[in-house]
Formats: sequence, C-alpha cells, structure tokens
Amino acid sequence: MNVTTDDLRKKWLEFWKKKNHIIIPSAGVLPDNDPTALFHNSGMHPLVPYLCGQTHPEGRQLANAQKCIRTGDIDEVGDATHLTFFEMLGNWSLGDYFKKEQIEWSFEFLTQELNLPLEKLAVSVFAGDDDAPRDQEAADLWKAAGIPENKIAYLGKSDNWWAKGDIGPCGTDTEMFFWTGDEAAPKSFQESHNDPRWVEIWNDVFMTFNRKADGSLEELEQKNIDTGMGLERTVAVLNGKKSVYETDAFTEILAKIAELSGDPKLAINPLAETAAANSMRVIADHIRSGSMILADKVSPSNVDQGYILRRLLRRAIRHGKKLGIEGHFTVKIAEEVKKKLGHQYTELEKNWNFIVEELEQEEEQFAKTLETGEREFNKLAGKILEFSNKKELSGKKAFWLYETYGFPFEMTEELCAEQGLTVDKSGFDEAAKKHAEASRAGSEQKFKGGLGDTSVETTNLHTATHLLHAALKKVLGDHVEQRGSNITPERLRFDFSHGEKMTPEEKTKVENLVNEAIDANVEITCEETSVDDAKSQGAIGLFGNKYGEKVKMYTMGAFSKEICGGPHAEKTGNLGKFRIKKEEASSRGVRRIKAVLD
Ligand code: SER
Repeated sequence: MNVTTDDLRKKWLEFWKKKNHIIIPSAGVLPDNDPTALFHNSGMHPLVPYLCGQTHPEGRQLANAQKCIRTGDIDEVGDATHLTFFEMLGNWSLGDYFKKEQIEWSFEFLTQELNLPLEKLAVSVFAGDDDAPRDQEAADLWKAAGIPENKIAYLGKSDNWWAKGDIGPCGTDTEMFFWTGDEAAPKSFQESHNDPRWVEIWNDVFMTFNRKADGSLEELEQKNIDTGMGLERTVAVLNGKKSVYETDAFTEILAKIAELSGDPKLAINPLAETAAANSMRVIADHIRSGSMILADKVSPSNVDQGYILRRLLRRAIRHGKKLGIEGHFTVKIAEEVKKKLGHQYTELEKNWNFIVEELEQEEEQFAKTLETGEREFNKLAGKILEFSNKKELSGKKAFWLYETYGFPFEMTEELCAEQGLTVDKSGFDEAAKKHAEASRAGSEQKFKGGLGDTSVETTNLHTATHLLHAALKKVLGDHVEQRGSNITPERLRFDFSHGEKMTPEEKTKVENLVNEAIDANVEITCEETSVDDAKSQGAIGLFGNKYGEKVKMYTMGAFSKEICGGPHAEKTGNLGKFRIKKEEASSRGVRRIKAVLD
C-alpha cells in the first residue's frame, strides 16, 4: 500500500464529514488554562471541558487532526519509533452516539476506507474489574461487524482503560491492531497480543467516568466517545514500514539533513543503527517539533514550554555538529517542515519570520556557549577519567555546566556517556532546586486540577483571567496578547506579550480595574456566534488558536468580551478581591502575572 500522511489525514476527515461530524481545527500546542501539562498531548486534550459537559459551539459530533507534543521521552528520540511531535486523528461524540455506532464506523473505516484485510486485524476489549464489568457489549458489536471471536482479546486496565491523567474523564476502551509480520497472523489474538508485530493503530475510548481528586469514580452525565489514531505511525504500518522515519513525513527532512552533512548516502537508510543515522533522526524530530512549537509563538527560555523548546533545539544543534554540519542550519530544516506541514498548519507560514528569528538567535547563542562549554567539559571529563575511581560527573558540576554554558542536563548526560562517564542526576536536581528558576523547569506534571476541574475556585479564577486580560490591554496597550494561561484552584497565572517590566503604578491600575469590574457585579453571558461576528463586536480571541465556524463568546458587562469555551462564574461579584502577587519575565518579550482572589 502506498499511503501518505496527507492521504490518511484527508481520508479521515472526509470519512467523518460523511458521518455528519463537524471538522474542527487543531488547537494550538499550548493548553489553555490547564496547569497539569505543558503541551497538548492528545486529540481529546483541548476538548476536556466539553467532554465534561460544557457545550461545544460546533455541536456534539466532532473530528479533527490535532497537533500533539509528547516530551516525556526526549531522550528516547533517535531510536526508530519515538516522536516528540505527532498528529493525532480523532473523532468525538459529546454525549451523542455511543458504542454501537463507533464500533460499526471503526470497522467500516478500517476495512472499506483503508481496505485493510480482515485477517490482519484484531481488537482488544476490557476484561472487567472492580471499576467496570467486562465489556461484552463491545466484543459482541465487533463480532456483529465481522471480527471473528479468535481475533478479540479481553485485557485488563493497563491495556483497555484510558485516562488522561490521575484525575479527569476516563473509561474502558477498545483498541484496534494491525498485523505487520511477514507470515500469516497468529490464530488467537488473546494468546499473541503481546507479539510486537501486532501494532496498535486506533483507540476508541468509551468515556463514562470522571476520576475525582480523591481517586473515586463518578459517572459522567454524558457518555462520550473519544478516539485517537496516530497519523505517522499508522501511515508507517499501512505501508509495511517499521518506522515513522520511513514515511513521507520525514523523507525530505532527512534528505535535507543528509545533504547538509555532505554525505547524501546517509539519507538512504534512515533506520541504520549508526551514530550518524541516530543524529539524523534526532535532528529531524526535534526541528520538526521545535518548528511546530515556535509556530505557536513560544520562545526558547529556561522555564516550562520554553525550556522544552530550548532542549529540543539545542540537542538538534549539537547533533548537527556531530554530523559535521557547518554553520547555522536549523532554518533550512524548518523550511522542509513548513513545506510538508504548512498547508495543514498555516501558522508555520503566518509566523515564519518569528520562527526564523528565534531559530537564528538560539543557534547563535548556543554556538557561543557550546564551544567554551565543551572545552570546559572535556577538561573536567579528562580529570575524572584520570584521577577518580568513580567514573561520574557530580550533579553540582552538571548544574554548573547548565547555568554557565546552557548545557541541558540531558546533553551533559549524553556527552558523559560518550566518554564512559555517568552523571549524578539527584545531585543535579538538588542543585537545580536551590536555583529558583531552574527548579521550575522541565517538570510536566506539577499541579493538581486541570481542564476537568470545574470547581468554584478555578471557575472564578478563569473569569478573573478574562478581566485581567482586558485590564492589561487598557493599561498597557493593544499589543498585549495572551500567550498562556494556567489555573490551579489557588491562583491564576497569565502570560502575555509585553516588552518591559510593569511599574508599580501600572500594576495598581490593573488591579483596580479588575476590582471595579468585580464590584460592579455584572452578569456574565455566553452567546454562540461566528468568529467574524465576535470580532466585529470587539471580542478578543486567544492567540494561536484557530477557530471553527462557530464559537462561544463570553461577555462581562462593558469590561470584557472574549472568545472562550468556558466555564465562567455567573456574576463578576462572585469573585472576591483580586490581587496581583507577582509580575515577572517569562521569556523574551513575554511577561507573567500570578494573581489570586482573596
Ligand atoms: N484519548 C485517547 C488516546 O489518546 C483516544 O483519543 O489514545
């Protein structure tokens, strides 16, 4: 079969359109108001509020291709399967159709749209435990559709239960597998499901519960369908390839890297287990992710998303050096990313100047520190190898390399490994903890709460965020744009574009404006309308988000009008007193405010 990533995406979207789904645009890579994650990591992630019962302006049947970033495994990238950026194809029923339709449509898509031979397909369903019984209904539906009993496996929680995190919507699922072996597929899927030649290509979640903070399950008011298919991986499987790096998603990117390295032969086998092929894959993946993150206007920095971006870019740059690429090269790779994905994700084109500037700047800054840093590192490593029994670099030194030369820990670890040294990770962590900024970097699961949290506290803080956004525009000017919002039950955190530190007077003005809006106790209303109409009414939108045909617009008296999914307080008077606790830099040209409601 010869299917490209564009083909599969198109087939997917057209199929769901035929089934009366609205195709919604991909949300940006940054989650909005979600303190539990740095990036959107699945198709359902931006839809959590709607899966929990908020109404979606486009209706109850949705589908899309969503940009996802998973950075838990940056260090694994370089092998043949891991990606830090990928597209997830998804379809959703928000309290509309359920198991029967979904399983019938899944079967139809696999066997009629993708023409997959029945004998290579298998499915797994939930075997049952204390939380939920065996999903016999799903098994029966698969059988009715045409999957034979011997190709159905009944598996436990670790296989057939899907949850976004420790808290939030979850439920049993059914997964679909494709046989990639050369010989015929084994007879019994129950017995052979662990064989790696069965590759999972699609996951249908029957979202039935909400896991609460205390660990208990409550039934969701609406039962949802949430499905996800990894685009690149499925294309690889359909083409009989072992790796995503052998798909069209990477052909031109890898060829460009080979060309720049001066050894075009490198491109011939992207799966080779050589150090050079490994470096190529690292560069290809990291510049692809980096470009997608930059396209949503994140700059490299030492905290949060900016730090992940910095790690990706710096690791790629270092591997470029290993390949012998001379001079700046990241923009040339990013160009290939734009050629490949720009038609689907137009922000690559729209924010191209920003992407180029940031890449150039990061490359220049890193090149400077890298050279000095590597010299210092080699001196250090030489000393350890010569004088020390323990072939280990201390955590303190690793942190010193980080602070002084911008060496991400993972890079120091890699440099050490090349010389046969280990690094004391816990020592590094300890040193980092002492350093206020560094201690905030890199950790992904920091807060409780999240998009499933519709407590009064987070709802009020969300409303306060709108008032703050409006007040900042009034006090500082129209250049203020939201760059990130993160809400826990205790505080709000708001990132916005602004070049300078705010003066005490400006802060007081902003506080007063928000408190005036609260004291006015105006009613908060929500309307469904088109983006154009919302904009013509003066509503502000969220930066980086692309909207579908219909949006929800929240109005708070004359103070604020904003496109947003909700939920919000009923009246501004519910909020209490607003207080800014901190105003600081977040990355270049971006300020961060932390504020509370007393
Ligand atoms: N949420 C499920 C997943 O990520 C299905 O979309 O696999």
